[in-house]
Amino acid sequence: MSESTGDGVSVVEGLAKVEVPAGRVCKSDDVFYNPRMRICRDLSVLSALVFLENYNIKEGFVLDAFAASGIRGLRYLLECGSHVGKVVFNDLNPKALDCVRHNLGLNGIDKSRAELMMEDARVAMLRLRNKCDVVDIDPFGSPSKYIDCAAEAMAKISMLGVTATDTAPLCGTYPVVCYRKYLATSYRYDGMYEAGLRILAAYIIRIFAKHEKAFLPVICFGREHFLRVQGVVKRNLREVDRLLLKRLGYLSVCENCGHRVLAEEKTSRCEVCGSEKVKNAGPLWTGEFLNEGFCKSMARKIEKEVGWLSDESVKVINLLQEEARVKKGLIYDTHFVCKKWKLKFPPRVERLVEALKDHGHDASRTHLKPTAIRTTARIDEIVEVSRKMKM
Ligand SMILES: C[S@@+](CC[C@H](N)C(=O)[O-])C[C@H]1O[C@@H](n2cnc3c(N)ncnc32)[C@H](O)[C@@H]1O
Ligand SMILES: [Zn+2]
Repeated sequence: MSESTGDGVSVVEGLAKVEVPAGRVCKSDDVFYNPRMRICRDLSVLSALVFLENYNIKEGFVLDAFAASGIRGLRYLLECGSHVGKVVFNDLNPKALDCVRHNLGLNGIDKSRAELMMEDARVAMLRLRNKCDVVDIDPFGSPSKYIDCAAEAMAKISMLGVTATDTAPLCGTYPVVCYRKYLATSYRYDGMYEAGLRILAAYIIRIFAKHEKAFLPVICFGREHFLRVQGVVKRNLREVDRLLLKRLGYLSVCENCGHRVLAEEKTSRCEVCGSEKVKNAGPLWTGEFLNEGFCKSMARKIEKEVGWLSDESVKVINLLQEEARVKKGLIYDTHFVCKKWKLKFPPRVERLVEALKDHGHDASRTHLKPTAIRTTARIDEIVEVSRKMKM
């Protein structure tokens, strides 16, 4: 919801109200605010709340490392109740900090609960070494250069959320850039957001390992303009080794038949059609994409208490909960399957999900694409079930 107030625009988002300069949303704006990122903020704050409750953390310490208008930090303060005690709002841009100051007043936030910092986010994170219960990294473009310092900032048990808006490298349009930034090869295919998220998660895991901290992803989500990974951080070397050695690998896609598989090693031959035209994306995270218990707790919050989520976010959280149940499933776009296997029509997503379940496979819709499914079935099995379905 927004209304114009002369030289600024007043926006209500969740329980917070902010005033931001009027104008287009672009990098050169005085103070950046993008209403299209609301869903990202809704889910970031809700997952922090679930984490803080799960670990019984009261008066938690939060760093909003790229604050801009302060909307995220304000929402942590207003929506996490007694679980958040203080937020540090950091931004390099002095105009952003003026805006944060104004918005703190607008929301009646007590001075003792907010601190302003004007540092490069890396410096801010090093200053707050081992102190932060929640760190929110939401830069322009790639977050890759901030992850080392984030590892330093995290408390013994804490939550890190990272946004990447450089979806083109991560999702395979620019694989060379992806390699440079994330030390992994990306690949463009119909389920590319999943591979992009898994590459981002693996990158954070590897960087954190150097700092002897385990980063365990609990929700990976996104839209075409951003990817976001939220994970629990623990200072626990055994977990570091378990995560690193056992659950980093590759997502391999057969260019001949479209089959795909997650494995520890690269695949050279397709198990469905025998083709050697197989492309490997990675190293990436092959473990849980969405933690079922965590997603359930988020969904329970919608039913019980949280009235501050947008309708779109509620829909996405319900989809995340469905998707989390399909533990070993991968994403397939029904339009891609239809074209590749020369089906007459793409099957309707909801009906295909039900039909796959009737045939003993795990399947669900996915929040990443309305025309896609997540399933444990192989591509030839998806095709077989689709052919049996009555149109
Ligand atoms: C994408 S915006 C943040 C949006 C905000 N988190 C939100 O949800 O509306 C990125 C912000 O980071 C700031 N910034 C850019 N580089 C920075 C750096 N190295 N350290 C700290 N802040 C930085 C910019 O001034 C800008 O306000
Ligand atoms: Zn194949």
